[in-house]
Amino acid sequence: MKFFVDTADIDEIKELAEAGLVDGVTTNPSLVAKTGRKFGDILKDICDIVDGPVSAEVTALDAPGMIAQGEKLAKTADNIAVKVPLTIEGLKACRHLTDKGIMVNVTLCFSAVQALMAGKAGATFISPFVGRLDDLAIDGMDLIAEIRAIYDNYDSITTEILVASVRSPNHVAQAAIMGADVCTIPPSTLRQLIKHPLTDIGLAAFLADWEKTGQEIG
Ligand code: E4P
Repeated sequence: MKFFVDTADIDEIKELAEAGLVDGVTTNPSLVAKTGRKFGDILKDICDIVDGPVSAEVTALDAPGMIAQGEKLAKTADNIAVKVPLTIEGLKACRHLTDKGIMVNVTLCFSAVQALMAGKAGATFISPFVGRLDDLAIDGMDLIAEIRAIYDNYDSITTEILVASVRSPNHVAQAAIMGADVCTIPPSTLRQLIKHPLTDIGLAAFLADWEKTGQEIG
């Protein structure tokens, strides 16, 4: 499973990329707003660090507007994936941009049939938001299982399942078990995935024993 990092924070992306944990990046207007920086500058900086897909979301609501914004965003770098909302206008823009060879991430997906529509529109990625469903006491991971089952029934659908709105390591583990293609993960959750109390306890014990030997390496 590929890991995308769900942030527009350049320092976070840099650090996680150094550890080889970043196969791509997703941004959205809320994440961009948090940085206080210009969207174009952020995208250029991210694409300088990351070779994999970098999602950049349009803000127009009509297909021609989305297409114009998407084409502009795609000029930033070859690895831009234009993010469009799961509306009829978004799907029209998806088909157009896909046909022009531009990657498209269809976002704000909350049902399996919506994912089927995005697949038919030729989306490169579908982004089901699991955390926001969990917030409504609906199990978001059930949606991932349904989309996986549907996509696996049809060879003609090549859309990758990009699990979004991830809130916990358990979301990531379940996504991997279900065979999701990608998980986009906030930096804080990515760090949680690395942590285990037994690792910390074991490391402290090894270092304490090593100190007793009075030796140094190198
Ligand atoms: C990523 O593409 C989504 O925009 C993001 O995962 C949404 O996460 P949130 O529901 O925590 O805002």
